[in-house]
Amino acid sequence: MKEGGIVVINFGSQYVQLIARRVRELNVYSEILPWDTPLEEIIKRKPKGIIFSGGPASVYSKDAPLPPEGIYDLGIPILGICYGLQVLAHQLGGKVAPADKHEYGRATLTVLKENKLFKGLPKEFQVWMSHADKVTELPQGFEVLAVSDNAPFAVIANPEREFYGVQFHPEVTHTQYGRQIIANFVFEIAKANRNWFMENFVEEQIKKIREQVGDKKVIAAISGGVDSTVSAVLTYKAIGDNLIPIFIDHGLLREGERREVERNLKSLGLPLRVVDAGEIFLSRLEGVEDPEEKRKIIGHTFIEVFEREAKKYEGVKFLLQGTLYPDVIESAGVKGAAKIKSHHNVGGLPEMMNLKLLEPLRELFKDEVRKLGKILGIPEEVLGRHPFPGPGLAIRILGPLTREDLNLLRKADKIFIEELKKWGLYDKVWQAFAVLLPVKTVGVMGDVRTYERVVALRAVDSSDGMTADWSKLPYQFLDHVMRRIINEVRGINRVVYDITSKPPGTIEWE
Ligand code: XMP
Repeated sequence: MKEGGIVVINFGSQYVQLIARRVRELNVYSEILPWDTPLEEIIKRKPKGIIFSGGPASVYSKDAPLPPEGIYDLGIPILGICYGLQVLAHQLGGKVAPADKHEYGRATLTVLKENKLFKGLPKEFQVWMSHADKVTELPQGFEVLAVSDNAPFAVIANPEREFYGVQFHPEVTHTQYGRQIIANFVFEIAKANRNWFMENFVEEQIKKIREQVGDKKVIAAISGGVDSTVSAVLTYKAIGDNLIPIFIDHGLLREGERREVERNLKSLGLPLRVVDAGEIFLSRLEGVEDPEEKRKIIGHTFIEVFEREAKKYEGVKFLLQGTLYPDVIESAGVKGAAKIKSHHNVGGLPEMMNLKLLEPLRELFKDEVRKLGKILGIPEEVLGRHPFPGPGLAIRILGPLTREDLNLLRKADKIFIEELKKWGLYDKVWQAFAVLLPVKTVGVMGDVRTYERVVALRAVDSSDGMTADWSKLPYQFLDHVMRRIINEVRGINRVVYDITSKPPGTIEWE
């Protein structure tokens, strides 16, 4: 981690990533650490400030997550948010108890006293609360800086030791001046270093990749998506032709996708190797109906093909992956989470091939990757691409997979995406695609009875794919797309629109 930044201690808040993002927007590096991180690990990062996140627990419960007590002796300013405030109060000798009235949603905060945290802010403003416990007794050396209707200790501080606690959530947009409050903590109180700039990141990473890789070769599986493209372009800048970018065409791509990826990467100067593996994938998948089985076949076949290709090159020691920061947090944080789908990636590859991982984007959030891509000269068209699942169209053909169905789906999907772009809607939705259903329905076209297949259109709004809502696309638009699909794709006589959110649905149908 960069020195002089802000460490965010995670107590299980749903907003923890948002806190880190807000800090980074101020050009200050921030890193999220789990609450049970040993003190030495925190010290090693030389942070200028520490933020305690919120969390669902109660500090007085037996197994409450609490940071190491020594954290208060480091001389580093701390901002506790919600549960984080209660942690401060509890560990420093105050009292926290269940509140008779819970406070959820909007509340008016009244500032009682001038202080660094609220520098430049009005005396009264709206904040976003969400808590069931409250502080009932202040720890020694603390004072009340602000109150709300239901929280007499809404903001507390020990200004001498630079410990601040806010019962509300400054990181959410519903809190007025939330960004300013975080900025005040970061600059006025913690005096953190402004050294997190994407331009510097490029230079630093290039240096780091060169150091790490030396004169060895790096192999990369390119999907054409944002993450793999950005990490490949960055790595190419660092080590040139010692990067071997491989694009496996598994025969499950969308119409024109292979050409598009080839064109994009070659225009960026990358020596892309395209492997035509459609036949092997399709021959194994034909007739397979079960979603998990499809995913497994594709995963295994992908590894097999990739390994075979990789063997053609000597001196390969690294595998490049476009891992992002949320993946890092998630794999460290969510233990025992239920498995919904086997996501296809190259996860098992490094051990099998005895390769080391190179993950130049593992400190970045998605929007930071886009910014980085822009600096690297990657066209908007690539950076704005919707996510596309590794198993491709195979999981969008429900029921047994056939080559004819792949063609049918490709045609319908192409029309949908083409029209979204024409109507200026493509960039407004997070992801959109067509799904071919294993159902035939009766229709009538030109006085003739038809008995053909159904296609479902799916478009969702989301920020990370973890939760999603269906996009409220205009009726005229949907009407137009329906007409084009039925008129132009022989074999489809009905179009439906999916209005399921996630949860309870998932984004893909399989
Ligand atoms: P679900 O269907 O799980 O999808 O709600 C969430 C996001 O992940 C994408 N997705 C995948 N991406 N390999 C991937 O790389 C996969 O196996 C996979 N399955 C789903 C999906 O398109 C959506 O963006």
